[in-house]
Amino acid sequence: MADFQKQTVQWFPGHMAKTRRKIKENLPLVDAVVELVDARIPVSSRNPELDELTSSKPRIILLNKCDVADANATAEWIRYFEASGAFAMAVDCKSGKGLNKFDDLVREALKDKIQSNIDKGMPGRALRFMVVGIPNTGKSTFINKMSGRNRLKTADRPGVTRTSQWVACGGGIELLDTPGVLWPKFDDPAVGDKLAFIGSVKDEILDSETIAVRLLDVLKEDYADRLTERYKIDASDCQLPSYELLEKIGAARGMKIRGGEVDTERAANTLLDEYRGGKLGRLTFERPGRKS
Ligand code: G4P
Repeated sequence: MADFQKQTVQWFPGHMAKTRRKIKENLPLVDAVVELVDARIPVSSRNPELDELTSSKPRIILLNKCDVADANATAEWIRYFEASGAFAMAVDCKSGKGLNKFDDLVREALKDKIQSNIDKGMPGRALRFMVVGIPNTGKSTFINKMSGRNRLKTADRPGVTRTSQWVACGGGIELLDTPGVLWPKFDDPAVGDKLAFIGSVKDEILDSETIAVRLLDVLKEDYADRLTERYKIDASDCQLPSYELLEKIGAARGMKIRGGEVDTERAANTLLDEYRGGKLGRLTFERPGRKS
């Protein structure tokens, strides 16, 4: 897993420049771009420059990890991306669920290209895609599932060369692995928070109480019922400032330190572990049209 934050300061400018160049070089070789985003954070798990960088090609957005995201929110995101002119669908690349519909989406996204291949007498010509996305969105899992093979995962670290490679998937589809590392928008602290919720930023560089309090800010708004159910707290507790809510959660679990104070660090770690372990159910932290 990429250790984003530590490396951002040091690596971002030069490394993104290299990725930008490689994408531009490779774009003429493909018919469309397949972008993987994390369905739980479809804004924060995107690279802010990608729209502009790849605007000359049709875009297929895969809302991956839909197995752990809120299904209603995912449906909203699909409508949102479609309204913006992209083709979008929900997938769970780990199990492969949804990938059987990829072919149909491709035929829709590239119908002009397919027709033009037929007109030129080349109906069987391969359709080529560049697969892009920030680290940990599931690019390797997607390519492996599509191609039915177990590739070694290429390094997603700045400074380690990722050689571009074509992967044939059958059905006339060929995928080109991302030529370089794409970064999330780390200058916005809310983006870092959300990557931390889902465990994409290493915990040791973050303060778990801070992240847990920010997670509660979001949960209070959209998923208060999950908190009351899981931690047996009152609905009115979800109206409290988030740090006090964390204390309520700790108290409900009997997490006390000497003197009777609540051990909020333990409560924070428990909340984060239980969310990431799926105990709070399927959650999405961003909605179309809503400011984070
Ligand atoms: P990347 O190439 O974009 O960096 O991502 P990669 O495929 O390595 O996937 C990152 C993590 O996300 C992996 O977990 C992978 O199993 C998981 N993942 C990919 N697709 C899905 C999905 O649809 N649903 C869920 N729930 N998880 C998914 P990991 O913990 O790093 O590895 P492992 O435990 O699977 O070995």
